[in-house]
Amino acid sequence: MITSETLKKKYIEFFLEHNHKRIANAPLIPENDPTALFISAGMHPLVPYLLGQPHPSGKRLVNVQKCLRTSDVDEVGDSFHLSFFEMLGNWSLGDYFKEESIKMSYEFLTRDKWLNIDPDKLSFTVFAGDEDSPRDMDSAKVWMELGVPEERIYYLPKEDNWWGPIGSTGPCGPDTEIFFDTGIQACSPDCQPGCNCGKYCEIWNNVFMEYNRTPDGKYELLEQKNVDTGMGVERTTAILQGKDNVYETEIFAPLVEAVKSLAGLEELEPSQVKSIRIIVEHARAATFLLAEGIVPLNTEQGYVLRRMIRKAIRHGKLLGVDDEFLSGLAEKVIETYSEDYPYLKENEETIISELKKEHKKFSNTLQKGLNRFNRMARKNKKISGKDAFLLYQSFGFPIEIIIELGEENDIPIDVDGFNAEFEKHQKVSRAGADKRFGSGLADHSEKTVRLHTATHLLNEALRKVLGDQVEQRGSNITPERLRFDFNFHRKVTKDELKQVEDLVNEQIKKAIPIEKCETTFEKAKEMGAQAVFEQRYGDKITVYSIGDFSMEVCSGPHVKNTKEIGHFRIKKEEGISAGVRRIRAVVE
Ligand code: SER
Repeated sequence: MITSETLKKKYIEFFLEHNHKRIANAPLIPENDPTALFISAGMHPLVPYLLGQPHPSGKRLVNVQKCLRTSDVDEVGDSFHLSFFEMLGNWSLGDYFKEESIKMSYEFLTRDKWLNIDPDKLSFTVFAGDEDSPRDMDSAKVWMELGVPEERIYYLPKEDNWWGPIGSTGPCGPDTEIFFDTGIQACSPDCQPGCNCGKYCEIWNNVFMEYNRTPDGKYELLEQKNVDTGMGVERTTAILQGKDNVYETEIFAPLVEAVKSLAGLEELEPSQVKSIRIIVEHARAATFLLAEGIVPLNTEQGYVLRRMIRKAIRHGKLLGVDDEFLSGLAEKVIETYSEDYPYLKENEETIISELKKEHKKFSNTLQKGLNRFNRMARKNKKISGKDAFLLYQSFGFPIEIIIELGEENDIPIDVDGFNAEFEKHQKVSRAGADKRFGSGLADHSEKTVRLHTATHLLNEALRKVLGDQVEQRGSNITPERLRFDFNFHRKVTKDELKQVEDLVNEQIKKAIPIEKCETTFEKAKEMGAQAVFEQRYGDKITVYSIGDFSMEVCSGPHVKNTKEIGHFRIKKEEGISAGVRRIRAVVE
């Protein structure tokens, strides 16, 4: 039986044999893209290189990339959709194009030495063509040359066979998708690849990124023709193991068993199957988010995390489990992934304590909130915006849980009304935060770049003032401000903040040129560079140095000289969770 570990190894090996270089698995939180909450595809950290910047590792790249798609959080529960998943990817940055890409995919899928999938079980979709780009006969021709019968090639429109950009502008293009027939009964005579009933599972997507979508919605041909492919690890593992859903693979089966035994269940109703799936999927996603320093909050990444944890807790309750159970599942997740992601183990204590804390917070109000929901539903046969907002504010119900309750009980929820109430009450709009996912590309505006270099100075200044144990836990930059999270056990005093500020401004005044060098991760560590995540492979990375003051592994961009930054000012310092502090600062 091929396990997910073997699949990952084979994939990397195959593409290394085909002259690709392995690149690191980037953090889930985008390092330099304030417009997106999470990395949602392997190509996301590669956007500048798809647009033409040379990549330090060359033109043929391969990796395993962890991704999180907020758009799929509420799909979780069916056979194959996951919010968090690992994606295998290979890229050509202006090197090979359609023919070689398709041929390599076919070889990897069907040859004995590799995945040995029966070609008769595969179907293919290609772009049907529209006013922006022609029908992709080139890809169809290559599939046919490989022996694929015409009737297993489907031509679909942009909604299905076009990928990107992430947000509204950037690299994108037509794609060809590879589907596996799970063998289950078709949902209707019209069922075909692209239908979500579970018969056809999309396992691989080869995107031919030859366009750049501009702010006015036009598709301009890029000078560099790229390939960006993505294969979902969990789904491909499932089909290789003859399963028609991801939860029966070794990735999730131990978690599913643990929940069944907690709930004392053997035979399951369909609704219980769904609850278990939501619980185990969200437990895994939450573990990875917490390991990256995200904590449950009411905004941005923290909100997505909170919503998943709370949803899992409610589904636990539906199964009759009231006691805290997510930390036990997280321990199993950490164990499963400890080899590939050692930072999970390093952050185990925080992960467990945050899950316990969030359970305590929510379980105090969950039953009361459910009672209130039932009373409102009985009385009004609907939930108004005001009532939904009350459930949110007084009982801590994320709107997605309220919507789910509405669906289960056949009670309409006024979501627009809720949003209006929400906007009225909050300065930061959660809806706005959600929209932010997918609204633009890495922001390289001058102000952002200045703040980015200032962040490096701040990182080092904190260590100089507060001690070497201080490490970055998160960073987020918009053109207006920088936000920097770090580990520290108490409030930073006014005096210390002033010292930090002065130290940063001193470096700015010294007009230090920023230097950049390419090296391996191991060498960077030896040189003493700061790095947020352990990247375990020997691929090339970039190190930015600011005189003797700071040295960090980072993909840039940065200003050329610190004097460009302007005056640095800390606006706020606060605790965001046990042992984690947050600083907001501006440059003027
Ligand atoms: N970016 C494409 C996807 O996510 C291919 O990697 O499917």
